[in-house]
Amino acid sequence: MQLHLSNPPLSQGECALVFCFAPVDNTESFALPSEIATRDEKMWSGLVAEVVQEQKFQGKPNSSVALRLPAGEIRKLVLVGLGDPAALTLEGLRRATANGLRQAHILKAKQVMLSLPETGLDPVRAVQAVAEAALLVAHQDNRFKSQSKSEAETGFSVQEVTLLVPGLEPARADYEAALHRATEMAAGTILARELVAAPANIVTPLTLADTARQIAQEYSLEVEILGREECEALGMGAFLGVAKASDLPPQFIHLTYKPAEGQPLAKLALVGKGLTFDSGGLNLKTDSRSIAMMKTDMGGAAAVLGAARTLAALKPQVELHFIVAATENMISGHGMHPGDILTASNQKTIEINNTDAEGRLTLADALVFAEKLGVDAILDLATLTGACVIALGEEIAGLFTQDEHLAEELHQAAKLSGEKIWRMPMEESYLEGLNSIVADLKNTGPRPGGAITASLFLKQFVEKTPWAHLDVAGPVWTERDSGYNNKGATGYGVRTLVEWVLARQAAHSQT
Ligand code: BES
Ligand code: MN
Ligand code: ZN
Repeated sequence: MQLHLSNPPLSQGECALVFCFAPVDNTESFALPSEIATRDEKMWSGLVAEVVQEQKFQGKPNSSVALRLPAGEIRKLVLVGLGDPAALTLEGLRRATANGLRQAHILKAKQVMLSLPETGLDPVRAVQAVAEAALLVAHQDNRFKSQSKSEAETGFSVQEVTLLVPGLEPARADYEAALHRATEMAAGTILARELVAAPANIVTPLTLADTARQIAQEYSLEVEILGREECEALGMGAFLGVAKASDLPPQFIHLTYKPAEGQPLAKLALVGKGLTFDSGGLNLKTDSRSIAMMKTDMGGAAAVLGAARTLAALKPQVELHFIVAATENMISGHGMHPGDILTASNQKTIEINNTDAEGRLTLADALVFAEKLGVDAILDLATLTGACVIALGEEIAGLFTQDEHLAEELHQAAKLSGEKIWRMPMEESYLEGLNSIVADLKNTGPRPGGAITASLFLKQFVEKTPWAHLDVAGPVWTERDSGYNNKGATGYGVRTLVEWVLARQAAHSQT
């Protein structure tokens, strides 16, 4: 999809997408935006007003009206509700954009003029949000459909969107930069979506490593891929314990981005859980629906690689380490037995009381590795527990950290990205649940509070670096079209990671 910037007003064009606020006062009735109302009287004989009334369109969020017009310079019109102007958020604008473009798609529009309203939001941020939503809603993944099937579904109709921005000219460069950021954000998100959606016979530890190499090559990052022996030399017994049952070699991926010139303002590590398939191991997943979804168990890794792509393109003045311990959790005579004791790279010993709690084992060695790099903060993303999905549902990630500053930064980043996170308690007393008779700790605690004990387990592998963990088991996948996400992989996490890094850079460049 092509995106352009232009000056209002609406002019000649195939399809106009116009945002409408709901009346502030309940006693007032809905009024069409003036640019539409005047045209409606002059050219369309009040057709729009009639349809609006018939459909009881009030400008509420998640509502829209779409129609073809009989005459004049605009042939198709989509009105989308934004709700109460005072309550509008960037995410509300994204969702409205996506809803409107879905309507334009149904009208078979190829070119859309999208008229941005004046809102209380930062106008440059608003342009970024609208552009992100447009690019993401348009992404349809037909890679694995045969030609006849994918042609029948023809893809997203809208090819070109022109954003009409009030007061564009004096700040045009800022708006162009916002479009650029949105384009890179969407590209990283789409990379993550495609990695998650691809099945385990396509995305393997080896192909994940190849993806990292490609990013490194395209954007001149450093890339280091450690195989089994190298991981052994580093003492990564926890990661390798999981990898043992797989016929595919584990790949420990480490991408490094450094600013081309000057000192980095911060040094951060982003760690992603990279299980390209999670059968559960000998504690086999017995529910056939959930085992069949376990190609998504590299959703954290996908977000980290997607963010690597976006950030490498946006070139912040920050040193970044992207880390993924990639493997599969399989079953074989070589695999770990329940009861086995593994030694992680920080020398801690772990009794495996459940082979299905494998993500934390791979992350343990990845976190130890990250901390040794001497970074200012570590953030990990992992499809870690079903318990987190039970707690927060499928749209919200759990945020676990004991660092107030990191928690605040991540809430701010999520507010900008629109990706939902909710802070969960890291109740230290629950650590007792991980006590082992024979080793330093067990890898699983009791069922209640399973997402919390998982985060407490991870914490045992970070000594002193500020660290936060996002449990993204719910939001990496959706079964239905919703907002700018189409059913399937969402690419969740990329935009929050990127906003977090950019905010860190901005905070340091002010001081
Ligand atoms: N990959 C799963 C978690 C998961 C569950 C992701 C549902 C996405 C959707 C993880 O490795 C796992 O199996 N966790 C276990 C932990 C348990 C054995 C303590 C779980 O959540 O059941
Ligand atoms: Mn598992
Ligand atoms: Zn898993």
